[in-house]
Amino acid sequence: MTQRIAVIPGDGIGKEVMPEGLRALEAAASRFGIVLELAHFDFASCDYYAEHGQMLPDDWFETLKDFDAIFYGAVGWPATVPDHISLWGSLLQFRRRFDQYVNLRPCRLLPGIKSPLADRKPGDIDFYVVRENTEGEYSSVGGRMFEGTEREVVIQETVMTRHGTDRVLKFAYELAASRPRKKLTSATKSNGIAITMPWWDERVAEMGRRYPDVAVDQFHIDILTANFVMHPDWFDVVVASNLFGDILSDLGPACTGTIGVAPSANINPEGTFPSLFEPVHGSAPDIAGKGIANPIGQIWSGAMMLEHLGHREAADAIVAAFEAVLAEGDRAVLTPDVGGSGTTESLGRAIATRLAG
Ligand code: NAI
Ligand code: MG
Repeated sequence: MTQRIAVIPGDGIGKEVMPEGLRALEAAASRFGIVLELAHFDFASCDYYAEHGQMLPDDWFETLKDFDAIFYGAVGWPATVPDHISLWGSLLQFRRRFDQYVNLRPCRLLPGIKSPLADRKPGDIDFYVVRENTEGEYSSVGGRMFEGTEREVVIQETVMTRHGTDRVLKFAYELAASRPRKKLTSATKSNGIAITMPWWDERVAEMGRRYPDVAVDQFHIDILTANFVMHPDWFDVVVASNLFGDILSDLGPACTGTIGVAPSANINPEGTFPSLFEPVHGSAPDIAGKGIANPIGQIWSGAMMLEHLGHREAADAIVAAFEAVLAEGDRAVLTPDVGGSGTTESLGRAIATRLAG
């Protein structure tokens, strides 16, 4: 089966971890009989901006819309382009125009990586955060009045639609139903945000009728953040609105150690448009050019991409390969962020070799 993938490394360490992401993908593809057709693009980067005065070519939508998926590195180089321009001009365009309404992040404690939470070991933390990615608290409805005067007023309205909420809840329930524990936790705040959040709770309950096998609970967002730290083992799939999901999807991976290994997916579940897979980290200007960035976030994002495209075995093999290399703990192979003295390439090669069998 042929998969057409748009490859966009972006800036900084994005350009260093991408080759290792591709090395792992190619190894998995050849082992599992998947044909990868890769198309490389230099746009959505600050170098492209320096040359063209914009982050994307005018025809980017047409260029990308028929790919099966987008494999992305990281964008941003604040020394030359302000972050709001680089981010809004690239990644956020993709998320919006390709209606990637699910932001998905696994939170999983890996072997050989120390959790900042005391005494946690692999197996204790293994859940997903599902964030609504298009509406909610991040709306453009509102404005300022009487600016600069004593009467200054500012309003920004939360917008939740039945269409937008139900589709992300459906994705979260499906994901929970596909996992052994079959448990869904909803982030709410119906005691304080007394209009939208009780309604969110109603939609969660309503969708739950279709998934009788999935056990559902809910927490107010404040105690939920505390429970991520105190009882991360309670969670299997956690679904949240845009704002709450933004917070949880940083906190969850943070509980599992280094940012260098965390992957994420921006998904258009219906496949009307390509979904986008990228590491959680940014372009890391402080270590860019040194060849020491951890490539696992990129490699794991590639595994999520294969899983999204229906290649579950290949995806599982990639995860098993980097878990095995981490568990081995060879300092000469591992990158400095996980206690090694190796390079992006040494770690990437070790994982690809393991994958080849
Ligand atoms: P960052 O994630 O790039 O770096 C934060 C810290 O983590 C740095 O100390 C960095 O060295 C370290 N780090 C990150 N990835 C690592 C890896 N793979 N291995 C080892 N260490 C790693 O976040 P920062 O510094 O706030 O942002 C830098 C630039 O990246 C900015 O322009 C920002 O806008 C952009 N950015 C882009 C994102 C994206 O493309 N989705 C996400 C976050 C930031
Ligand atoms: Mg965030």
